[in-house]
Amino acid sequence: MGALLFHSPFDDPEAWRALFAKEMPDLPVRVWPDAGGDPAEIEFGFIQSLQPGELKKFPNLKAVFSGGAGVDHLLKDPEYPRHVPIVKIVQKQMTLGMTQYVVLQVLRLHRQQPAYQAQQREHVWKELPQPGAWDRTVGIMGLGSLGSAAAKALADLGFKVRGWSRTKKRIKDIACFHGADGLEPFLKETEILVCMLPLTAETTGLIDARLLSMLPKGACFINVARGKQHVDADLLAALDSGQLSHVTLDVFFPEPLAADHPYWRHPKVTVTPHKAGNSSREAVIRDTLENIRGFRSGKKLRHTVNMSAGY
Ligand code: NAP
Ligand code: GLV
Repeated sequence: MGALLFHSPFDDPEAWRALFAKEMPDLPVRVWPDAGGDPAEIEFGFIQSLQPGELKKFPNLKAVFSGGAGVDHLLKDPEYPRHVPIVKIVQKQMTLGMTQYVVLQVLRLHRQQPAYQAQQREHVWKELPQPGAWDRTVGIMGLGSLGSAAAKALADLGFKVRGWSRTKKRIKDIACFHGADGLEPFLKETEILVCMLPLTAETTGLIDARLLSMLPKGACFINVARGKQHVDADLLAALDSGQLSHVTLDVFFPEPLAADHPYWRHPKVTVTPHKAGNSSREAVIRDTLENIRGFRSGKKLRHTVNMSAGY
């Protein structure tokens, strides 16, 4: 029986190995770079980020599980063996964690917390005009497993919610736009824009000065997807000009954010350290092993990535 190759630069591999072993003792787990001597034994990968050119060394690889919902870290490898399916995380805890983060940050902007915090520092007691959620339009870019859940939660809170995807969608209570032609109409009324897109060739650098200029003046921007999707200089210029009134970022390029980056001290920027999605090792391992067991018993793998679309 084959083995699983594990790699994570972010987390303790031995803790993962112990949990894998507890749940599925007959699946040996090798921690990269120690693939156990015979590369032909490796049947599955569980990879959080690995240097390009490594995965092609395993001739019997049957599937690679991404250690995240994003798979850009795998597809950026020009030598990735493209016949090997990639499985992304689609997981209840991850979806809940991301939904909570997006709701938290949208509400924080909608209810003007940054302005009230500034007032508190100056001991200022002053009510600010407050529109209702029913008068606030939130636009979600990306209506996948995470984007659609956040969009629904915001609609349930009474916001006017619109979403943008690559292909046409119909989702109850969400005004859906799609494709290049749908972008400007989608942005035109979006007051709080949330990026929940995968990182692909099309979405790299997408949130630039041109796109930001299509938003109403004074809009807010939140990115929980990937740092390479926004252009830092353009976000800062839009804050300076007043085109944007606040930016909340959980993702950056590169990460971690450099200690001297202007975002840290900018009064209109909120920074969190790539922690919007949240799930436990246990839950991720449980889902991965359920998929492996199903695959071994002849079922199709769940949550595979469309290799040509890149997500
Ligand atoms: P997903 O299920 O693959 O959904 C992606 C969505 O984006 C789909 O609606 C897709 O449109 C749309 N899309 C893709 N390319 C597009 C384009 N060129 N134009 C317009 N729409 C496009 O992804 P997910 O699981 O929701 O995750 C989204 C991203 O969140 C991940 O890729 C990852 O980068 C990021 N993430 C971040 C964290 C964090 O902690 N910050 C945690 C988890 C995930 P269609 O529906 O038409 O296919
Ligand atoms: C985190 O960024 C993920 O892609 O799961």
